[in-house]
Amino acid sequence: MVGVAQLVEPLTVTQVVEGSSPFIHPIFRLFIINLQENPFPIIVCSAETNCEEVAVLINSSVLQIVSNTNESSYLAYKEQVLTLHVTKNGEHLSVSIDFIHGKSKHRRQYGGGKSQPLPKACGLDKHPDWMILDATAGLGKDAFVLASLGSNIMLCEQHPALYSMLIDAIHRANADEDVCDIVERMTCVFDDASLYLEGCNDSSAPDVVYLDPMYPERKKSAKIKKDMQILQSLVGYSGKESELLEIALKKSKHRVVVKRPKSAPTLNDLKPSYTVSSVNTRYDVYICG
Ligand SMILES: C[S@@+](CC[C@H](N)C(=O)[O-])C[C@H]1O[C@@H](n2cnc3c(N)ncnc32)[C@H](O)[C@@H]1O
Repeated sequence: MVGVAQLVEPLTVTQVVEGSSPFIHPIFRLFIINLQENPFPIIVCSAETNCEEVAVLINSSVLQIVSNTNESSYLAYKEQVLTLHVTKNGEHLSVSIDFIHGKSKHRRQYGGGKSQPLPKACGLDKHPDWMILDATAGLGKDAFVLASLGSNIMLCEQHPALYSMLIDAIHRANADEDVCDIVERMTCVFDDASLYLEGCNDSSAPDVVYLDPMYPERKKSAKIKKDMQILQSLVGYSGKESELLEIALKKSKHRVVVKRPKSAPTLNDLKPSYTVSSVNTRYDVYICG
């Protein structure tokens, strides 16, 4: 695939500079400035991207068009779907986000409703109107489950490649009549969730903060699902989740929900108000206020 430098229209530059685009948050702009020094490679041809938000990221040097790359991680369009490629231990892995077909469709059609552990832990059964901040959005799977059950979700993701794939997937889903209503309830913000939460005031604070932080890499990596191997290779374990839990507990109006492997210790050794468990996973629920 060949990179085309004149891909982006000048219009989107104006949007970034003047902050006139609805998805440019003031903190987002600061975040972009910090990222400009190390743009994430994207292989793209003009015929393949019609997602304006991705074009904004290219124009603001968060993503950098390349015709080929030696980097171990890069983005590329595959059949008009933004796909992340990662090489880990000599193995090439790739992942994309699809809210329309495959597992998302199956979950949407046959998922267990509001009594599933995650929606239950987030309080959807009793408080369907609560605004949820998914502070660690990743590939957006959990957020999609919550949005498909009627929740309004703000997805916060700090990594430029994952954020780009989320907005690309939402863009495609917007054009699909079966899922457009669901993704309308999903808003993405490109930010460090701790900074985003710092900036929330009484009226903008979420009712629920949901955290699914990266977990330290296990030695038996063969047991880890491909998606998680890719996330581990790309993002890794930051050790900053304690800080994120602290600010989430301060800012959330009603509860903080933390996803943990079933036998893992609680985050910050903090005893939850209660837990909701599934086969391999535990949701620690902290009631706030
Ligand atoms: C385990 S993944 C989440 C997977 C997600 N629950 C899903 O359903 O796909 C953790 C994600 O959180 C993101 N993350 C970690 N700390 C963050 C922070 N402080 N702000 C924003 N995103 C963060 C990482 O970049 C990574 O994509």
